[in-house]
Amino acid sequence: MGFGSMRLTPRPDRSVAVRVLRRAVELGVNHIDTAAFYVSPGGILGVGTGAARFATELIREALSPYDPRLFLATKVGPGILPSGEFETAETPARLRAQVEENLRRLGVDRLDLVNLRLTRRDGPIADRFAALAALRDEGLIRHLGLSNATPAHVDEASAIAPVVCVQNSYALDLRRDDDLPRALAVRGIAFVPFFAIAGPSREDGATAVTDAAVNSLAEARGVTPHQIRLAWTLHQGENVLAIPGTGDEAHLEQNIAAGALKLTAEELARLE
Ligand SMILES: NC(=O)c1ccc[n+]([C@@H]2O[C@H](COP(=O)([O-])OP(=O)(O)OC[C@H]3O[C@@H](n4cnc5c(N)ncnc54)[C@H](OP(=O)(O)O)[C@@H]3O)[C@@H](O)[C@H]2O)c1
Repeated sequence: MGFGSMRLTPRPDRSVAVRVLRRAVELGVNHIDTAAFYVSPGGILGVGTGAARFATELIREALSPYDPRLFLATKVGPGILPSGEFETAETPARLRAQVEENLRRLGVDRLDLVNLRLTRRDGPIADRFAALAALRDEGLIRHLGLSNATPAHVDEASAIAPVVCVQNSYALDLRRDDDLPRALAVRGIAFVPFFAIAGPSREDGATAVTDAAVNSLAEARGVTPHQIRLAWTLHQGENVLAIPGTGDEAHLEQNIAAGALKLTAEELARLE
């Protein structure tokens, strides 16, 4: 069970985010997902006034000097320019700038994992992935992955450099990539789904947890529906890693506990 840092930045109180991050690591989380563009709702216009909260900087504040066992995953492609405008990095120069921003904000010399964040409609990705492979060869990145990727994207990137993970949206009720976890497992690639709790509500968060089968199983097992959703996620394969996002300490503890929840074949079939 990992931790997604996207839900930390909306909380106005930095100290809550710092506490949640420290508690996650204390409870055994060693895989944290982030991005330099995870920033508080006011955007980077609060930078300099101390008002902007970057997830990457909260991670640094809470956890550096880092335990060498901690694995920090980030993503590039989407980004925020110093003007405050959003960008999608297409050129080697912009991708390098985003990698350097992640290094600086996290306070590390090398990024454990950089996912190239795509859109499903993206055509060839070779130029962008090759640019990241060059940064890996330079020592700025340890591993490369893809996000929001199709199997064709994985094939294209793998011909350039090893792909260690694919991070796509996927949940009990968000089933676009049903064959992907197993197909990746065969190739030794991790599958890291996001929106495991939010499901089709996506960025809106945990509003869709109303399914009768999930609710009744949760009641029978004495856990929350969100924990059932996370447990289902981890049962999708040995190569599947969850990264639930929360800015709430009680939710964090429930999410980590869900990592130990074993579902029977009959329970899994009922959820299907
Ligand atoms: N690659 C990409 O394009 C991409 C896109 C989106 C997200 N991500 C990554 O994936 C991570 C997971 O995605 P996500 O955070 O959007 O969705 P998620 O983990 O499916 O759900 C997060 C939502 O569920 C709530 N929640 C979490 N634990 C809960 C619990 N135990 N009980 C009740 N509610 C709970 C959170 O609110 P509270 O804060 O109130 O707990 C938040 O609204 C993100 O944090 C981010 O790191 C990647």
